[in-house]
Amino acid sequence: MLSLIKQRRSIRIFQDRKVEKTKIDQIVQAALLSPSSKNNNPWKFILVDDKEVLVELSDAKEGGSQFLAKAPLSVVVLADPEQSDVWIEDASIATTMLILAAQDLDLGSCWIQIRERKHSERVSSEEFIKKLLGIPKNLRVLCMVAIGYPGEEKTEKQIKERKLDDIYQNHFGNKMRISNIY
Ligand SMILES: Cc1cc2nc3c(=O)[nH]c(=O)nc-3n(C[C@H](O)[C@H](O)[C@H](O)COP(=O)(O)O)c2cc1C
Repeated sequence: MLSLIKQRRSIRIFQDRKVEKTKIDQIVQAALLSPSSKNNNPWKFILVDDKEVLVELSDAKEGGSQFLAKAPLSVVVLADPEQSDVWIEDASIATTMLILAAQDLDLGSCWIQIRERKHSERVSSEEFIKKLLGIPKNLRVLCMVAIGYPGEEKTEKQIKERKLDDIYQNHFGNKMRISNIY
């Protein structure tokens, strides 16, 4: 798990290769096995592999989503705020789980933020996606995750030396020395 975490990077270029159904199933299961507040499981997921829809979804934001047009798969992460007042945390953890599961299956992925983002001057990214995918009014869209076989190589994650200074022991300000195992 630690080396998986170290190797995970945001991948935005993908091979022109489909993701196998068994891998998709495993990724979804990882998300469904996530912890959630009061075990409410307020999330829902839309798996998109239709090329035309992916191209349309890639236009959800003014920037930062265009690469989705060339991804083989997108998971759109939804949640019901009526089921959980902490749906953002719940859905974010589920998204992290699916990203790590994808990594374990030799797939690359990248989180595309949707909540609080704009499609255009008057239309939010959420409104745009809800209309496109026929998502009911009561549900919110947190993000999308682009998934596919990596078409780019990235170096392992490195912890910036100064970030090790932000760790404290027992009381804010009491610095705790963390050895940089990376
Ligand atoms: C909440 C969140 C929102 C993000 N939104 C986007 C996005 O909209 N588009 C994008 O290309 N990357 C997005 N990313 C990926 C970050 O840019 C990336 O995680 C960061 O630059 C660190 O790089 P790494 O993932 O390779 O470690 C997002 C990541 C997180 C956690």
